Order: sequence, then structure tokens, then C-alpha cells
Amino acid sequence: MGNLKRKTILLGISGGIAAYKMCDLARQLVRASYNVKVIMTQHAAKFVGPATFRSLTGNPVALDLFDDPAAPINHISLAEEADLFLIAPATANVIAKLAHGRADDLLTTTALAYQGQLLVAPAMNTQMYLDSVTQENLATLTARGAQLIGPASGELACGDSGPGRMVEAQTLFGIIEDSIQTSDWLAGKKVLISAGSTQEYLDPVRYLTNRSSGKMGTALTRAALQAGAEVQLVLGPASAAVPVDKRLACTRVVTADEMCAAMISFALEANLIICSAAVSDYRPAKKASIKIKKRQSQLGQTNQQDTQVLELVQNPDILAKLGRMKIEKTLKADTILVGFAAETNNLEDNAQAKLERKGADYIIANDVSRADIGFESTENEVRIFSKAAPEADTLLPKTSKTQLARQILQRVYPLS
Ligand code: PMT
Repeated sequence: MGNLKRKTILLGISGGIAAYKMCDLARQLVRASYNVKVIMTQHAAKFVGPATFRSLTGNPVALDLFDDPAAPINHISLAEEADLFLIAPATANVIAKLAHGRADDLLTTTALAYQGQLLVAPAMNTQMYLDSVTQENLATLTARGAQLIGPASGELACGDSGPGRMVEAQTLFGIIEDSIQTSDWLAGKKVLISAGSTQEYLDPVRYLTNRSSGKMGTALTRAALQAGAEVQLVLGPASAAVPVDKRLACTRVVTADEMCAAMISFALEANLIICSAAVSDYRPAKKASIKIKKRQSQLGQTNQQDTQVLELVQNPDILAKLGRMKIEKTLKADTILVGFAAETNNLEDNAQAKLERKGADYIIANDVSRADIGFESTENEVRIFSKAAPEADTLLPKTSKTQLARQILQRVYPLS
């Protein structure tokens, strides 16, 4: 029995008939030598008795915030102790509470305090699952880094048939095993990530920018943290939430010049560098020190003679500079350099050209002409081009940026 099997799996069980499947899962996990802890909601305890889980796991079952007077902050210790937290079955109500940060019982309080890898297996009536509110709540959880498992389709306890069945215990067990075994594969590694847009000012109030939300870059950050890495994030203006983690340092920048300086200064220490930021290729040649005024026209008229020509100059190409540092051996000998390619046409040719021109080991290409992936969306689909075999790219099909980020890391920095 290896070290990996000594991990603590926290099972959060909420009130659905599928709670019975968790007995089988708990048994399988215990047999595989995991330390299994269980939290049940009051409703879950109406479907399966806590004594069943106590017998199966050999651990006390946590039901209430004030269960144990000797350990009044049980939710913090459970959250800190867990190597992986699975909430299954996750009812529509629990999913809504998780999405909105409500913490009114032991399960949701522990989930809010928990900073590690969270798996959520929804189980509910089909109409409840398909309702737009539930879908939005699930999208919120995914965007924050939770991994959804299922639901499966089939006959439901309420008599309906459709999506909403919790996946089987065997499936959950397999996913837990995979997650745990790869969970620490970046431990001891330093990962440097750029994310978000840049803003290039014309005057004190106007700037050139693009639509990057930072979701792809923060998803990569989360995935690297979950894999045990220390992460330095260099973040331009972005709306995406930045994870809170003691292994993450986040440096905020605004312009391409600032992003370039920050990336170069951190690059020397990094084992893996990922440039996912959408950096402005150009900036205004001059920045006015005061707000640029238009020429006056007659009341209510537009002055057609008042035209402005904006002169732009190139910004530094940060990825290409890092590529040069790699060739000149200024970076660590084994540093892996990864760039993105945001393309609207000729994706393959452009990505292969960027691989070569920017000196990257990998280029992750996405089609930003599509509304359902790329900029701002919660999902993405990418093709990975590698320096080792530029012609043989790998497609990672459309999925949440959270899941995709994990897959990208596994491709560009595999477990050795
Ligand atoms: O942030 P989101 O809303 O989640 O959207 C994600 C994304 C679409 C921004 C992301 O998936 C993506 O494609 N990022 C790269 C955007 C980009 O600038 O692509 P590019 O093809 O213009 O640049 C190629 C590479 O060179 C990129 O790694 C870029 O970071 C880098 N670059 C570009 C210009 C420049 N001056 N310096 C650079 O380092």
C-alpha cells in the first residue's frame, strides 16, 4: 500500500435517494485504504442512518456544526484535513447554496472553508436539473474550479426519465482514484502564468484593450494549485475571480510593458511558464497627459472635419522574449514554455508559425471567432501544438475551462 492511499477523502452527503449509493462508495474507499470522513445533512440522515457510515468508515459521522463540544470548529478541521472533498448526492438546494456561498449547515460551511479539489455529483429530478437557475449555479461552481461528475440519464426515483440520476459508486470511485493519484504531481514545481488583458492608454481615461476575462488563466492557476504547484500569477485587467491560496502570489499589472517586466523577473525561477494573457500588440505612440478634447462644433451638429489619426507602436512580445531567454539558456534548463494562440482564421498554420517564431515548447490554439468558446466564455476547446511534433496536434474537445486547464497541464507537464 503506497503513500497515495493514505489520503483523507471527505464525503458530503445531502438529502436524496442516491445517498444509499454512498454506502457502497464508502466501503470501496475504505477497502482501498483511504481514511474516509462523512458529513451528512439532516435530510441525508433521513435516507440512510449515520450509524451505517460510522460502521463502514470507522470514523464518527459529522451531522451538525455543534456535534462535538470539544471541537467547536469541526468545519475548519474537516476542511483542512481533506485531500479531496466529494459532495454526492448534491441536491439542487445544496448546489444553490454552494454557488452563492451560503453556509448554514455543517456541509456547506465546510465546503466554503475548503480550499482543495472539490468534486460535485448532482442528483435531482430532470426538470430541476434542466432549470436555468440550476444550470447557472452549476456553471458558477465549475467556473470556481469544482469538477462536476454527471448526472447520468435514466429512470429517476420520482418516476421521470432523463438527466438527473447520480452516477454509480464505481464511477465515483474511479474518478477519486484518478484525482488523488495525480493530485500532487506538480508539488515542488514553480508555475508562472500570465492572464487577462492589457490596457494601453491614449490619455488618462481612454485605452485600447480586448475582451479577455482572465477565466482561462485563472482556471490554469487553480489547476496548478490543485496539482500542488507554487504559482505566480501575473494578471492584467480581468473580471475573473482570483483563487485564494497560500501557494499563490498574484501581481496585478495594467500595460503590456508592466506585464513584460513582471513576467521576465519571475521567469528565472519557473519550471513551467504559461502565457495565456491577451497582450495588446500595439500601444498609442503618445499618451496625452490630459483628456483629449474634440473640436467644438455648432450646437447639435457633428463636426465632420474633426478627424483624429491614432499612431500606434509595437509592444514587446513577452512570449517571444521568454522564448529567446530559453534559447540563450537564461531560464532553468528544463523550463517548459507554453503560449496560446487566439485565432479567427487559419488556426493550424498560425499556431504552427507562432510555435516557431516565439520559441515555445507548446502553443495552445483556440478559435476566438466562436461565441461559445475563447474570450469571456466559461468553456473552451483547444488544439495543442508541440515543438516536438508540430504536425501532430492534439484536440481537447469543448469542456469547462476548469476541466480543460487540468487537461492542458497534464499534456504540457506530464507526471514523470
Ligand atoms: O481570458 P478569457 O476570457 O478566458 O479568454 C481566454 C483567451 C481567449 C484570452 C485565451 O484562451 C487565449 O487565447 N490567450 C492568448 C491571447 C493572445 O493574445 O493570443 P495571440 O495569438 O495574440 O498571442 C500569442 C501568444 O503570444 C500568447 O501566448 C500571448 O500571451 C503572447 N503575446 C502576444 C502579444 C504580445 N505582445 N506578447 C505576448 O506575449
